[in-house]
Amino acid sequence: MKNISIAIDGPAAAGKSTVAKIIAEKLSYIYIDTGAMYRALTYKAKLQQIDPENELDLIGLLKNTTIELLPGDEGQLIYLDGQNVTTEIRTSEVTNSVSTVSKHKLVREEMVERQQRFGKKGGVVMDGRDIGTHVLPEAEVKVFLLASVEERAARRHAENIKKGFPSELEQLMAEIANRDKLDSEREVAPLKKAADAMEIDTTSLSIDQVVEKIMEIAIERIG
Ligand code: CDP
Ligand code: CDP
Repeated sequence: MKNISIAIDGPAAAGKSTVAKIIAEKLSYIYIDTGAMYRALTYKAKLQQIDPENELDLIGLLKNTTIELLPGDEGQLIYLDGQNVTTEIRTSEVTNSVSTVSKHKLVREEMVERQQRFGKKGGVVMDGRDIGTHVLPEAEVKVFLLASVEERAARRHAENIKKGFPSELEQLMAEIANRDKLDSEREVAPLKKAADAMEIDTTSLSIDQVVEKIMEIAIERIG
């Protein structure tokens, strides 16, 4: 059986990481959450009071930073310089600066290089914004997940409530819309569907239905 690469892109809360994790498990592939890497850098920059607009400071910081994605009992764990920051990188403070940190060319080049190293042997499901367009342009399966902003905010809201985090639906909707805009309008590797990606609108689909659609093409490509 061939070890293929699966690229899953799309805007915030479209369901990328949820379906990517399930597909990786089904195929016994590794799962790489590239957003977590940008979040980890953003978190470290905050701790060191580095301005998210300062590209040179950020690339200096990143060159001296190790980011590891390790399997845990309840999903992937994110380690920053050897420390588990899985929870810390999901705060709204990090979420609201990550698009600024990730717009810089030098930061993206270094991240893409690391991501390509993770994915070079195939047998990988990678999710993000530029996987099908830049990180894994040769991926055998490319998917672009979409959902309405209302649906995506409602999903994040439900998730926050479940975890006992403070959450306000209107605010989430504004934050998601703002991040979509920043991610889609940046100059370097913006959020964009690859020409050869399959678009799936998940607004009224269950997680299982999305997984099924992607598995169908994955199995076909694996042969
Ligand atoms: O999970 P959620 O959709 O909220 O976001 P994420 O996947 O954790 O990504 C956080 C942010 O990192 C995005 O809003 C982008 O600004 C950036 N990102 C990126 O620029 N390129 C990627 N391949 C992945 C994430
Ligand atoms: O990774 P991304 O930001 O694209 O989204 P996610 O964190 O995987 O998904 C956001 C929330 O939407 C999760 O709580 C999922 O359970 C839920 N959801 C989904 O992912 N897909 C659906 N078709 C329906 C709900």
